Amino acid sequence: MNKEEAKKRIDELSSILREHNYKYYVLSAPDISDFEFDILLKELESLEAAFPDFKLPDSPTQRVGGEPTKEFKTITHKYPMLSLSNSYSETEIREFDARIRKIIDGEIEYTCEHKYDGVAIGITYINGLLTTAVTRGDGTQGDDVTNNVKTIKSIPLRLRGDYPAELEVRGEIFMSIEGFRWLNEEREKNGESLFANPRNSASGTLKMQDPAIVAKRPLDCFIYNSPNELDHISTHYETLKYMRSLGLKTSSQVAVCKNVEEIFEYISDWNEGRVHLDYNIDGVVIKVNNLQQQKELGYTAKSPRWAIAYKFKAERAETILLSIDYQVGRTGAVTPVANLDPVLLAGTTVKRASLHNADIIQKLDVRIRDQVYVEKGGEIIPKIVGVNLDARDAGATPVTFISNCPECGTELVRNEGEAAYYCPNKDHCPPQIKGKLEHFISRKAMNIDSLGEGKIEMLFNHHLVNNIADLYDLSYDDLYGLEKVIIDQDKEKIISFQKKSADNIIAGIEKSKEVPFNKVLFALGIRHVGETVAKKLALHFNNIDRLAAATHEELIEIDEIGGKIAESVINWFEKQAHKEIIERLRKAGVQLANVASNLQARSYKLEGKSFVVSGVFSNFSREELKLLIEQNGGKNVGSISSKTDYVLAGDNMGPTKKQKAEKLVIPIISEEDFQKMIS
Ligand code: IVH
Repeated sequence: MNKEEAKKRIDELSSILREHNYKYYVLSAPDISDFEFDILLKELESLEAAFPDFKLPDSPTQRVGGEPTKEFKTITHKYPMLSLSNSYSETEIREFDARIRKIIDGEIEYTCEHKYDGVAIGITYINGLLTTAVTRGDGTQGDDVTNNVKTIKSIPLRLRGDYPAELEVRGEIFMSIEGFRWLNEEREKNGESLFANPRNSASGTLKMQDPAIVAKRPLDCFIYNSPNELDHISTHYETLKYMRSLGLKTSSQVAVCKNVEEIFEYISDWNEGRVHLDYNIDGVVIKVNNLQQQKELGYTAKSPRWAIAYKFKAERAETILLSIDYQVGRTGAVTPVANLDPVLLAGTTVKRASLHNADIIQKLDVRIRDQVYVEKGGEIIPKIVGVNLDARDAGATPVTFISNCPECGTELVRNEGEAAYYCPNKDHCPPQIKGKLEHFISRKAMNIDSLGEGKIEMLFNHHLVNNIADLYDLSYDDLYGLEKVIIDQDKEKIISFQKKSADNIIAGIEKSKEVPFNKVLFALGIRHVGETVAKKLALHFNNIDRLAAATHEELIEIDEIGGKIAESVINWFEKQAHKEIIERLRKAGVQLANVASNLQARSYKLEGKSFVVSGVFSNFSREELKLLIEQNGGKNVGSISSKTDYVLAGDNMGPTKKQKAEKLVIPIISEEDFQKMIS
């Protein structure tokens, strides 16, 4: 493909992808499959890699996130970002309406819209292109989170239609409830701490330093305002309509109300209706619709006089605390869970509620048989928020937090500065063993899906597996005919492994021996060693023996590996039981080293092409890449000349090399592009 053709195709692909993004994320009406979308996106990525000069500033490929930021720049808001005054009762809304009617003569209309429970953002478009996105901060200055915001797919990188030369829009970044659940499940699998609610996970994500991670998190955004004065627009409702015409995502649940009664109706509808939404709202925002009237009303020091927030009361129910269970998670953390006399709350029957930890139990002074208040706020799981002391029975018994693990009897420990109690018996406590096994076989680890759906539990209960190495000793005879009791429509049924399931399990375990070293390392379930850290460690040390022998200093020298991770890695490898597991995995043939030749089969795909490899890579070492080039018929050369066909560049490629490649118009490709070339 020559330069002209490449430019044309890059422009064309960018515009097609932009249109599909809009249909999918803003209109929720996609007309191609995810797979077709990915193929187009990959084509664009490869072309941009080969012809970086033609990459558009708003290229849809930016959605995958760029370079990490060390610290966010502080940016002063052109228009201050104020907050809203809150109200909690009908009386306060009536007072708000009366204040307005005192100042404004004539008819007044209000808009009512959801109060989204997320993080405020101000996004500026210059000549239709997204240029900056700033958090609210203290209202005068905020953080420049542009690179993170650019990864949020419902926020257009380029406006459509008829836009002014400069436009700032304000909105709320949030995470859907489904997205939040998915994220927490992933975090649990990785042994990472969980987010308490979708708002925390949205604000935590927005402040992350690596946009590539942000890109993988399900953030979304509703635009609700613009501080600019816009031609031909006289009401807030029209502003929202106009925003929509520019390709921005606004909510369709906005109502124009003629009086307070209509406002109350909207509030009451959504106070009930919010349980069916896929995002959290914590109230309703009421705004004077006419923009001229808004201007006349103006602002107090902190908030506009033309708007008010009505905050929902968290739905609350009162019921009896029957008992407390203690659950032990995969990481050994012990969570107290209250068993309640079933009670209706926000549309569902609640039988259990979280009691968080020992401190909270003590603070609430909650006792068995107490009448307790249960609330469902931003959190998904209902929680106990108080005790009706007037209703306390003389016989109510105080709660003493358990001191030993309910699963294995080991004495619990509490780390300094942490609220949770842990069972320290990591390798022998049943839920912790099962959790480790579940993690080991999971998709991103060893990917043994024939062992999913409760099969681990079954193998564990039959004493066939107690640790990950035991999986590799399983035989067909161990599995065939193994029985499990299940409850099907209230009847007990016995199912047993037939030939096919037994064969599948053995085949799945066998196949896992091909899983590359970095995934094996992740699969071991070492605390704080998630997917990315595992990749870094595998790349740096190349094999498990060198990693096991690494010192604290050697570990923390690696980019982004801190003291906490280093300590956890060292502790893990020090244990005799873990050494034995490693030896058994080695004997079984599990990959405990990087083997480039295993990663790709040989081919002639690169015949006649010469490569310069430069920089630091995340999936391969430089030596491995060179080997792969040769194995696929290509040639490695040391320096760039007009005869070089490609520069395979990782992080930190030297600037002179880069300039030289650019001058000689030699395509600079990433390791992902390279993988595509040889796959
Ligand atoms: S309008 C001058 N509309 O609530 C402020 N705000 O304290 C105009 N919020 O931080 C704000 N949903 O991020 C407006 N539909 C909505 C909103 C909304 C949520 C947030 C906003 C602000 C806070 C107000």
